[in-house]
Amino acid sequence: MEIPSGVYDVLTDPRTVITDDRVQLPFQLDRPRYEQVDKVLKEIGGRWDGRKNVRAHVFPFPVEEYMRACLATREFPSRNEQGWYPTPSMVVDEMLAHAGVREGMSVLEPSAGTGNIAGPAAESGGVVDCVEIDERRVRALNALGVARRVVHADFLDLDPLDCPHGYQRVLMNPPFSAAVQHVMHALGFLDDGGTLVSILPESVMWHSDRATTEFRELIALADGTLTRLPDESFAPSGTKVRTVLCVVDAEPGGPLPTHGWHQRQPRQLDLFSVG
Ligand SMILES: C[S@@+](CC[C@H](N)C(=O)[O-])C[C@H]1O[C@@H](n2cnc3c(N)ncnc32)[C@H](O)[C@@H]1O
Repeated sequence: MEIPSGVYDVLTDPRTVITDDRVQLPFQLDRPRYEQVDKVLKEIGGRWDGRKNVRAHVFPFPVEEYMRACLATREFPSRNEQGWYPTPSMVVDEMLAHAGVREGMSVLEPSAGTGNIAGPAAESGGVVDCVEIDERRVRALNALGVARRVVHADFLDLDPLDCPHGYQRVLMNPPFSAAVQHVMHALGFLDDGGTLVSILPESVMWHSDRATTEFRELIALADGTLTRLPDESFAPSGTKVRTVLCVVDAEPGGPLPTHGWHQRQPRQLDLFSVG
């Protein structure tokens, strides 16, 4: 949901203090403006604590990093719009430790949000391309300026074969509503010899639908790992969702449907083309 401009002005006011688990407004606001700010902070999960030594909206999670991501896009995930969970920095550090991004490596972030993964990947020397479906987040990514390219698109609509090359690393935290589909599609953009690192909902460990079962089998066949992350890993993003880290290397000639694999498939003849 959009942060109303009056609320944005208050939250970005240099007098506003956003640290740890709280937001403090040590200045007077007129009543309607205060009510607007209070409503947004409560929607995000805060509650007003009026005790003399607190006098702040207090959140059940560290709010600073999360608020920075919201303010970058002027929006916040409401209770009804839960697809956007910026990856907390401790989780990103763990992803990068597994990915081993080095100077000049090509990296794809196919659901890049506001760049919580793309930014550190670029700082590690990666040449990062981003895809993001939401226009406001695309603007935030462009403003961040860390990506070689930011593509505003539905990642699932992109054809791996329209991409002239694969990527040495794919780093992602896709929307959990279609996480397995996103990771399977992302494999088509991975170089043979590359590594994919993804956050996934913990349900991939036990869901028994066909797509999830086949996904687990494929990751096991490729000697990849699915490792549970600590329960509170996404608390800085305001959710208790349980997550796992998927790490898989694409051995050349291995079972993963990589970019090279797609290139090796015989092209389908277009028998109905005219002319
Ligand atoms: C869980 S958030 C993670 C954002 C970012 N990867 C991060 O780690 O901070 C998922 C992101 O995927 C984006 N998204 C959802 N569906 C998408 C799609 N079909 N194609 C590209 N991006 C998508 C959402 O807008 C959101 O920014």
